[in-house]
Amino acid sequence: MAAIETHGLVKRFGTNIAVDGVDLSIPSGGVYGVLGPNGAGKTTTIRMLATLLPIDGGNARVLGHDVANEPEAVRQKVALTGQFASLDEDLTGTENLVLLARLLGYSRPAVRSRAEQLLTAFDIADAGPRQVKTYSGGMRRRIDIAASIIVTPELIFLDEPTTGLDPRSRNHVWEIVRALVAGGTTVLLTTQYLDEADQLAGRVAVIDRGKVIAEGTTGELKASVGSNSLHLRVLETSQRTAAARILRDLLGDNVTEDPDPFTVTARLDNPAQAAPVLPALDTAGIPIASFTLGQPSLDEVFLALTGHGAGVEPAGTTRGAGVEPAGTTYQAGTTVESDREVAS
Ligand SMILES: Nc1ncnc2c1ncn2[C@@H]1O[C@H](COP(=O)(O)OP(=O)(O)OP(=O)(O)O)[C@@H](O)[C@H]1O
Ligand SMILES: [Mg+2]
Repeated sequence: MAAIETHGLVKRFGTNIAVDGVDLSIPSGGVYGVLGPNGAGKTTTIRMLATLLPIDGGNARVLGHDVANEPEAVRQKVALTGQFASLDEDLTGTENLVLLARLLGYSRPAVRSRAEQLLTAFDIADAGPRQVKTYSGGMRRRIDIAASIIVTPELIFLDEPTTGLDPRSRNHVWEIVRALVAGGTTVLLTTQYLDEADQLAGRVAVIDRGKVIAEGTTGELKASVGSNSLHLRVLETSQRTAAARILRDLLGDNVTEDPDPFTVTARLDNPAQAAPVLPALDTAGIPIASFTLGQPSLDEVFLALTGHGAGVEPAGTTRGAGVEPAGTTYQAGTTVESDREVAS
């Protein structure tokens, strides 16, 4: 049985169709990545699947239960940590976990030990007695996830769990995600970082403007944009245009000038096509800092599919990455849902 199955899922906000006929079939076990630029509809999709937002069209089954008709059954089984704050900032870490554990029906003695166990597992035991508002971003993200797995869920939604984190905290969250998967939990993860999806996700769906525009394993998606990718880095930004022209002459139109002003990327059908590039650059007197040939990155896949990089705001929208308070927990089966989300 698929963990999640959706058919023609739709969500409208006024005239804005945020989710526009999304079909997903997400297998049980492992991490499934949902990628897409700001405003693509990732959070909205997750919120419908987690029964936090009514569905306007189509249907969805989560762990075998129809989301619209059996929301209670879904809520019992899933957890969601997301971009929107809901832990009580004025309570300590321990108090928050204890409160949630009580709401989830843990007995009084069991509550303390479960809270301590989680704080230790997430390496924030020292911060347990401190108010959550004093936590760093990385600590905050860890307690959010801890809060959402007080009861080991069959399925957890992680909405951008590492946005804004430093590399060390990010690695820590990745370890937590891997541990969840090892424990049998299915993880649906949204991210703006394609290397994160590459690291964690078996399969991914790319969503843009409310529609699924690609789906498959990360390897399949990379193969779909060409098997090889040439990355060229010039020493001076002023020489990039000339370098790109030479690449186009030799390789045709699959040449992109990246957001990084020093680099040019070209897609190749065959690595041998790269052979004449170095002599041609040399003849033109363009010194280069690096020249690499390899599999395309998911960033390139994304650019090829959407025409813009991950995290780049599509024209005409006003929402930006990171404007929402990042890091948060909706605990399934409780009433801790925040009203702050409305401000998003
Ligand atoms: N509560 C709401 N009321 C009105 N419009 C909304 C609401 N929530 C989301 N939207 C709109 O729906 C669209 C999809 O938003 P959503 O938050 O699902 O995108 P996202 O893919 O999660 O983006 P991000 O990467 O920035 O988190 C956007 O156009 C957004 O402005
Ligand atoms: Mg979002």
